Amino acid sequence: MTDDPFDELLSFVENELQFATSHYNDSYLDRRVSSRMRRTGSDSYAEYLSVLQDEPDEQEALLEAMSINVTGFFRNPDVWSGIADVLETLSDEKSSVDVWSAACADGREPYSLAMLAHDVDGIDESRIDILGTDISEPALETAREGVYEESRTADMDDQLSFLDDYSRYVDRDDRTYRIADDVQGTASFERHDLINDDPKSGFDLVVCRNLFIYIDNEYKRSMLEVIAESLRPGGYLVIGKAETIPPTLKSAFSVYDARLRIYQHDSDSGR
Ligand SMILES: C[S@@+](CC[C@H](N)C(=O)[O-])C[C@H]1O[C@@H](n2cnc3c(N)ncnc32)[C@H](O)[C@@H]1O
Repeated sequence: MTDDPFDELLSFVENELQFATSHYNDSYLDRRVSSRMRRTGSDSYAEYLSVLQDEPDEQEALLEAMSINVTGFFRNPDVWSGIADVLETLSDEKSSVDVWSAACADGREPYSLAMLAHDVDGIDESRIDILGTDISEPALETAREGVYEESRTADMDDQLSFLDDYSRYVDRDDRTYRIADDVQGTASFERHDLINDDPKSGFDLVVCRNLFIYIDNEYKRSMLEVIAESLRPGGYLVIGKAETIPPTLKSAFSVYDARLRIYQHDSDSGR
């Protein structure tokens, strides 16, 4: 038991609403809670907790606010030129290239990888297999359908204009964007929880972006350990542009491109 009102609120969310608040860092949780407090006119954590206890609709709204599902096609465009170079190198070196988009949200990141594989002349797309995973089943359902609706906050035409002519890979009908079958064929999807599930193995490239910024340091380290184990020696890792590798894990990776946050898994790190 705790006397701190913020901790009490988090205990309620963790125990009654089954959301693992302990995995996330406090500043992230505070931002999400504060935004719901403003919307409900609550002046203190204690007041907001009583609103939460009484109102199932508010419980749902808070859970929605806490799920971090922001994504996009070719997010941070400059990074994608670096990813294209890595894919080209890998497809030159290997007849079969395994790519893992971990925490892929609704699939726009793995489909960006698939479109790149089809678009860049130096990449043989038949050699590339992309696995997209996420903890969220609803996000994975959208990913499997490969259909996206334009919204006020997502200008997909602008995002996709990273490619010279995206109409080869996406069928657009007004505000609906459908990923073409051959691009969909390059990617598959399954559920994977980077905190509780086992590592995978033998990946040539893992892209895991814009999740660590929300995660408590302890869990961030264990997630990166899972990823390091899932990479073959010399395999590449891309993290988000605002993210860093914790000092205790630096020996597992060498820097490939510091600005773009691209690393290589060291063969002699003992992992
Ligand atoms: C902000 S999105 C990032 C999506 C994409 N990588 C990007 O950069 O656009 C973070 C994703 O991490 C997922 N996530 C949260 N906790 C996770 C966990 N423990 N294991 C796997 N995915 C997780 C969320 O469901 C969400 O889809």
